[in-house]
Amino acid sequence: MSETEFDLVVIGAGPGGYVAAARAGKLGMRVACVDKGELGGTCLNVGCIPSKALLESSELYRETRGGMDKHGIVLGEVGLNLAAMMERKEKIVQNMSGGVAALFRAHKVEHVKGTGRLGKAGQVVVTQEDGERTLATKNILIATGSAPIELPGLAFDGERIISSTEALALSEVPQRMVVIGAGAIGLEMGSVWSRLGAEVLVVEYLDHILPGVDKEVAGQLQRLLKRQGLEFKLGGSAKGAKVKKGKVELQVVAGEEESAEACDCVLVAVGRKPYTESLGLAEAGVETDERGRVQVDGNFRTNVPGVYAIGDVIAGPMLAHKAEEEGMAAVEKMAGKAGHVHYAAIPSVVYTHPELASVGFSEEQAKEEGVDYAVGKYQFRANARAHCMDAIDGLVKIISDAKTDRVLGMHILGAQASHLIAEGVAVVEFGGSAEDIARTVHAHPSLSEVVKEAAWAVQG
Ligand code: NAI
Repeated sequence: MSETEFDLVVIGAGPGGYVAAARAGKLGMRVACVDKGELGGTCLNVGCIPSKALLESSELYRETRGGMDKHGIVLGEVGLNLAAMMERKEKIVQNMSGGVAALFRAHKVEHVKGTGRLGKAGQVVVTQEDGERTLATKNILIATGSAPIELPGLAFDGERIISSTEALALSEVPQRMVVIGAGAIGLEMGSVWSRLGAEVLVVEYLDHILPGVDKEVAGQLQRLLKRQGLEFKLGGSAKGAKVKKGKVELQVVAGEEESAEACDCVLVAVGRKPYTESLGLAEAGVETDERGRVQVDGNFRTNVPGVYAIGDVIAGPMLAHKAEEEGMAAVEKMAGKAGHVHYAAIPSVVYTHPELASVGFSEEQAKEEGVDYAVGKYQFRANARAHCMDAIDGLVKIISDAKTDRVLGMHILGAQASHLIAEGVAVVEFGGSAEDIARTVHAHPSLSEVVKEAAWAVQG
């Protein structure tokens, strides 16, 4: 027997799903949000938030160990209490997950704990600890996110061959860790464990790190990470691994060269795949593409009436804020409002030290698109505040249309890039020019002046 009808049942309580559910509640819909895990999904529980907590702690550890004397701060011996570091991370996660529960209460969203699947038309069936519950609903929003991709010959065992989830919760610092994949996860988690004392080797299939990111800027980040102690093997991949007596021997091939890399664990971070397991998509007739992503139209509608999808489970960058925007837009469309996502103005950030943040076209993309473009660059080392902060590494690079000066892309490698990029996002969103940025007053002394100077540099 199905229950009272909902206007919307959201499957998945990650940043896409919970934001959509709360927005729908605010718009007056009767909403349920189904999730088998803790509220907040991958991002909040085993992704963005715990990784940022560990990145912050590990960077403080690295700084206090090596960089305080020049400030005139004299410390005794600096030690590491990994358990306490992990406990702090867990508390942040619990606190934030509690925040989602409060948001649901405020917007009258019912959290239904269990695994949801599409049932008959207009139904979501939830498998719970004590049986099944069927929710009748006008609309269904699939927001089930993604899961780590496994490599052949390197099946996850949760201990020695691990994904980002386990890399966020190691109980001791490995002596040596091999990371496969120089994407955001590989570089962020590789940085955490390198700062805490592990030798870290990053094996990347391509001849450069961070595919899709402006190559010049990504290359500079790679040099800085090397200086911090990370090793890189580019043009390489792993063939297989043997686990013996708690140690791993990893077969790595890079061009003609083959090596056996001994290590304590291997972090496989070669991307994520849409998570649609046990959703009953095929039975419900929902179409997916060749990569298993749910196919949607511009209004996030699947081919099945009343079924929508957003976030990592559909095409596009797998980013929490992209999922959030899509969640808002999908629900607004359902309510007959004008929801919209401007895909050209979605920032992406890699939270290394320093951070690398981008929005819009890379120089390679501008070339590919055949755009006549101009570039302006400015180094952090020319900025007074950066010297005061001991944060002189990196640059801001702005790409604008050579004729109209409209900003097409901004790339920031430097301290607080994740915050500074907001200016670039706003300018891209509003179709502003490099001169608009250059003629905007920026506080002195501040890192934001590096952005302003890069904008002046666009016109030489
Ligand atoms: P990714 O797709 O960003 O990077 C994977 C890397 O692995 C690529 O450089 C790829 O060339 C390489 N690779 C693929 N197969 C390989 C092989 N067999 N051997 C060696 N290298 C191989 O994926 P990642 O880092 O796992 O992240 C998954 C998703 O989560 C991405 O979409 C990412 O944007 C997102 N994410 C975003 C974060 C952020 O915004 N700060 C943080 C963490 C994840």
